[in-house]
Amino acid sequence: DGRTAEETFEAVIAADQKVEPRDWMPDAYRKGLIRQIAQHAHSEIIGMQPEGNWITRAPSLKRKAILLAKVQDEAGHGLYLYAAAETLGISRDELVDALLTGRQKYSSIFNYPTLTWADMGAIGWLVDGAAIVNQVPICRCSYGPYARAMIRICKEESFHQRQGYEILYTLSNGTAAQHEMAQESINRWWYPSLAMFGPPDADSTHSAQSMAWKIKRHSNDELRQRFVDMCVPQAEVLGLTIPDPELRWNEERGHHDYTSPDFEELMRVVKGDGPCNAERMAHRRRAHTDGAWVRAAAEAYAAKHDGSDR
Ligand code: ACO
Repeated sequence: DGRTAEETFEAVIAADQKVEPRDWMPDAYRKGLIRQIAQHAHSEIIGMQPEGNWITRAPSLKRKAILLAKVQDEAGHGLYLYAAAETLGISRDELVDALLTGRQKYSSIFNYPTLTWADMGAIGWLVDGAAIVNQVPICRCSYGPYARAMIRICKEESFHQRQGYEILYTLSNGTAAQHEMAQESINRWWYPSLAMFGPPDADSTHSAQSMAWKIKRHSNDELRQRFVDMCVPQAEVLGLTIPDPELRWNEERGHHDYTSPDFEELMRVVKGDGPCNAERMAHRRRAHTDGAWVRAAAEAYAAKHDGSDR
């Protein structure tokens, strides 16, 4: 139609249509998406560990079955997201290698330890709650495969969030010791959850470009505020206290004022110096090495069969 490839791309973005794998796209758009989708995929895979830690110690068979299903969902999310990243021309091997060598990151939140059963509740309510606030807008991301993967992921995340909320509700209304355990867990997870949204807007490297390309739909601070506003009434129903003495409704802004998380701590954790970074990476490397025989067997099978009998 006489337009250059770049003009067509810009028009697709402007019209809120989807960019698809075979379409022309600027190199930086491709690279930026690979970075974000890979980081997201790695987060799901590493994110299995903090909760995996409690599967054998869940307090009942029912709780155990639910937690097991949840951790399996996270593996599934990682796989959908790796598949979405692969449509941009990077291989699964390269992505896994980038995680294992530390060239690509994963979310800061998974470098904190899960010390009590109540942490399964706090992760569901706060961590998955934050993930939903961050990810629902990505269902409208300009890149088709990422946007579509996010629809199913968000449905499953909302189940995860409710199961965490229900764990906390049960503990909060249980014995005094159970209530105390729930509160102690919220005290530890609140600020790391706020930090999941990334640095403040003024320090966010990628936000402006990602928003112009409609990869991100809202800024880090906008989503953080939305999350705080969402949690306040839910904490009231839970009968638990958000550990922020400055938290209060601001009539003028129509939002809650709150204390920011410690962004220096976020940067330290992202750089590898959080409480569990070394342990998480060592575990992932070990799992990868232990799984080598499965990959070798799959390759040997593929080499023997041309696909016609599958
Ligand atoms: N943990 C680790 N790294 C982070 C975090 C965090 N919580 N927040 C920001 N960063 C990194 C960014 O990756 C970037 O580093 P890089 O340039 O080396 O990639 C740097 O800090 C600066 O941040 P921004 O410029 O603000 O980065 P970006 O625009 O990508 O925004 C965000 C960060 C909001 C996390 C975005 O990437 C995003 O929405 N990702 C998709 C959702 C996701 O990954 N969720 C994972 C956790 S949720 C879950 O899995 C349950």
